[in-house]
Amino acid sequence: MNSIKVGLCGLGTVGSGVVHLLYHHQEKIMHDTGSAIEIKGVLVSDLSKVRAGVPDGIKLTDQREDILGDDSIDLIVEVMGGVEDAYQLIKGALQKGKHVVTANKDLMAVHGAELLAIANENMCDLRYEASVAGGIPIIRSLTDGLASDKIHKVVGILNGTTNYILTKMVDEGRSFEDVLKEAQELGFAEADPTSDVDGLDAARKVVLLATLAFSMPVELEDVSVKGIRNLSSRDIDYAEQLGYTLKLVGIAARDQERVELSVQPTFIANNHPLASVKNEYNAVYVYGDAVGETMFFGPGAGQLPTATAVVSDVMDVVKNIRLGVTGQSSFLPQYEKRLKPSDE
Ligand code: NDP
Ligand code: HSE
Repeated sequence: MNSIKVGLCGLGTVGSGVVHLLYHHQEKIMHDTGSAIEIKGVLVSDLSKVRAGVPDGIKLTDQREDILGDDSIDLIVEVMGGVEDAYQLIKGALQKGKHVVTANKDLMAVHGAELLAIANENMCDLRYEASVAGGIPIIRSLTDGLASDKIHKVVGILNGTTNYILTKMVDEGRSFEDVLKEAQELGFAEADPTSDVDGLDAARKVVLLATLAFSMPVELEDVSVKGIRNLSSRDIDYAEQLGYTLKLVGIAARDQERVELSVQPTFIANNHPLASVKNEYNAVYVYGDAVGETMFFGPGAGQLPTATAVVSDVMDVVKNIRLGVTGQSSFLPQYEKRLKPSDE
């Protein structure tokens, strides 16, 4: 059986989950793709770190060129995070004809269109399912299952860390700082958790969802963003007294002339399904002219849910390589012209 060689860039929460799945689900993955998948090298930033659960024979490096310059590597999995290094790595990989799977919304929200165009030019796949809502296959749903519909609104809880914090503050009366620390220990939060807490992580996901849902270029600056940092126990008590639950909600909505893009703490009526989305779980409502209302629900952060999305992308790329049809999943729609955000 032929073998596809992967360069794994990042071996933290998500990267370790990817290694775990590639080993523990190996038989199923091989059966479904018709190919073995071999991790040829792993890029990390600190070689001196002690790492548990790394299978024997996996070669670690802190030199990007060891991965990019290895001509036997077909596919790069980027789960390092950050923007500049990841951008250089992915661009370099695509220019060398290597396919890429990434979980990096920070990068895709800013450079996604450019990188997809480079992937397209080089007949490469660039997949990023894990970058929005962790284990929920929402990108596939927008680009595939709902592709024939005209989507006019996407609404959801898009950040696991803040939903975890709000859940524990409301249900257990715990302090913001205490629960944030726990969310970091559980691997839900970003390396810099201010992007979770201040709503920027959810805003990046709104950009990615709006771009795909509306087939339209959308900029991060177009999103009006407010996080949960300044919420107090008084806000939570007030919501409770009125029969509401506080959630950080992202909205992307459009009509013929305007788009509305926002992330903000929102009072949700207790009998609305979004109010019962707890802990690191996310939920996304998609409203289409033809389909009506659909709701997607699942773990929005965490090691194995996120790794599931990454490895499923890897499997799709491997199938495309075998069939000789790579490049098509990076197909760029002929975008509609950019609409003005509602506050411009
Ligand atoms: P971690 O901080 O746990 O892991 C990052 C890994 O990348 C580490 O192994 C680190 O090396 C390595 N790394 C970081 N920068 C560099 C660099 N410049 N060069 C080489 N190696 C580097 O992050 P996560 O696993 O939590 O997140 C990874 C990505 O996945 C991010 O883009 C994040 O937004 C995204 N994501 C995360 C989710 C989650 O639940 N955690 C969910 C969905 C997406 P070292 O080990 O030596 O420090
Ligand atoms: N920090 C992110 C969150 C990870 O908490 O939702 C998943 O994108």
